[in-house]
Amino acid sequence: MTSVADPTAVVTPTEASGTDRPVLVVDFGAQYAQLIARRVREASVYSEIVAHSITAAEVAAKNPVGIVLSGGPSSVYAEGAPTFDPAIFDLGIPVLGICYGFQVMATALGGEVAHTGLSEYGSTPVTVATGENVLLAGQPNEQTVWMSHGDSVSRAPEGFAVLASTDSTPVAAFANDDRRLYGVQWHPEVKHTEFGQDVLENFLHRAAGIPADWNSGNVIAEQVAKIRAQVGTGKVICGLSGGVDSAVAAALVHKAIGDQLVCVFVDHGLLRQDERRQVEEDYVKATGVRLVTVDVREQFLAALEGVSDPETKRKIIGREFIRTFEQAQAELIKEAAELDGDPIRFLVQGTLYPDVVESGGGSGTANIKSHHNVGGLPEDLKFELVEPLRTLFKDEVRAIGAELGLPPEIVQRQPFPGPGLGIRIVGSITFERLELLRHADAIVRAELTAAGLDGVIWQCPVVLLADVRSVGVQGDGRTYGHPIVLRPVSSEDAMTADWTRLPYDLLARISNRITNEVDGVNRVVLDVTSKPPGTIEWE
Ligand code: XMP
Repeated sequence: MTSVADPTAVVTPTEASGTDRPVLVVDFGAQYAQLIARRVREASVYSEIVAHSITAAEVAAKNPVGIVLSGGPSSVYAEGAPTFDPAIFDLGIPVLGICYGFQVMATALGGEVAHTGLSEYGSTPVTVATGENVLLAGQPNEQTVWMSHGDSVSRAPEGFAVLASTDSTPVAAFANDDRRLYGVQWHPEVKHTEFGQDVLENFLHRAAGIPADWNSGNVIAEQVAKIRAQVGTGKVICGLSGGVDSAVAAALVHKAIGDQLVCVFVDHGLLRQDERRQVEEDYVKATGVRLVTVDVREQFLAALEGVSDPETKRKIIGREFIRTFEQAQAELIKEAAELDGDPIRFLVQGTLYPDVVESGGGSGTANIKSHHNVGGLPEDLKFELVEPLRTLFKDEVRAIGAELGLPPEIVQRQPFPGPGLGIRIVGSITFERLELLRHADAIVRAELTAAGLDGVIWQCPVVLLADVRSVGVQGDGRTYGHPIVLRPVSSEDAMTADWTRLPYDLLARISNRITNEVDGVNRVVLDVTSKPPGTIEWE
């Protein structure tokens, strides 16, 4: 037995994690790697995702403080199953294998994985072996974990202690404390596993000895230093959308280089109530950035006149946005060059880590999904990109924004599509319809915030069915007004979503307020469709 009586005994202090000393999360092709990387960061340790094809030499070059092998879709015996360089286990780096990663570890190190025919899916009771061990220290002997596997480890490799078992899996977790190699069959990264985060934290802090000191403060310090090194005395431009990513990216760049940065905000008239003021006043006050607002409300309305097809709206909005941004940019570049001969060479983008991972992790140019390209930029721009959020997840970006003192309305803002209210009017867009929708949307947002539900819902599109009218009665008179649709959804990543069960009293209040306060609306309806089959937006 290699398990130890004193769970703190194997703590080997290492250097702190950071972008130069990450925990590597090896991706075996399932969707778990990003979740694991986030959980590691929640333990205040920096993590990065790498492909399973990484070699031992490449791992060594990255100088990681630990490695976590993710779950995967396959059996280790399946044809084309993702492979892993076994020499990585000899580098002396602490490793935790999860699910498929656990089985990869078992086979690579001389254990056995078998098709037992006894698969386990979903919540499963597990029994922790008696005697202290580092990985499961401080946890009850009987607990519930989340399983998803067909094959099972039937024999642990030599020198490994078996730490846990289930009815159908004799080896559900193992450890070799001397080599600092660990594995669990279950998924500690999912919330259904009762003590999942404890498993990860025991591995990181106790077994691998990585201190919990990755936080917003050192992310800011690190990024500020990087931006200064990249930009030097060069001039930088940034387009603000009013959303959290561009706001935080610009604030970081401003902290690093001050007035070498100029920000551009396009008011296309499809914004929500108060958004322009938040950027022009609150954001500028909090950061001190130099901001140029371009007011093109008339131009957008004219370009969109009579258009009701959603994709045509998107195309027009995208085209007009790029045209506007390019013009503003050209003027600023000229002005900058006239000032001291040095034009603007750098462009800030709020690219986040999930975009980097999903686009294959390549560096250099940002990958902007065509679906989400409004507010993005044309491909032929000759700028060097400054992307201070490239290593960060959304919740980390919000934490940094808060630490930088940005207004909470911006930092906590829910996702809002680039084409704005333009794709929340079913029918053609007019100034009056936009005003009406802005008013209804402001009521919904205020009521959701007052009910303390901002953290519960992912986003709540408010949609005006401009092409639909229904009969109503208000006061003494008959009305023939438009319906407003409420679309509150809960989601992890907008890929799938469920409709949020809002309290009836709250729905009643919202409905009363909208029908009483918003002229032209005589009905409020609730969308109770999940995604799929419905999308989050109506257009
Ligand atoms: P759907 O409607 O496809 O939306 O379920 C998924 C997420 O994407 C947002 N969305 C957009 N964002 N430009 C954007 O920048 C768009 O054209 C666009 N369409 C949808 C939507 O708000 C949700 O968060």
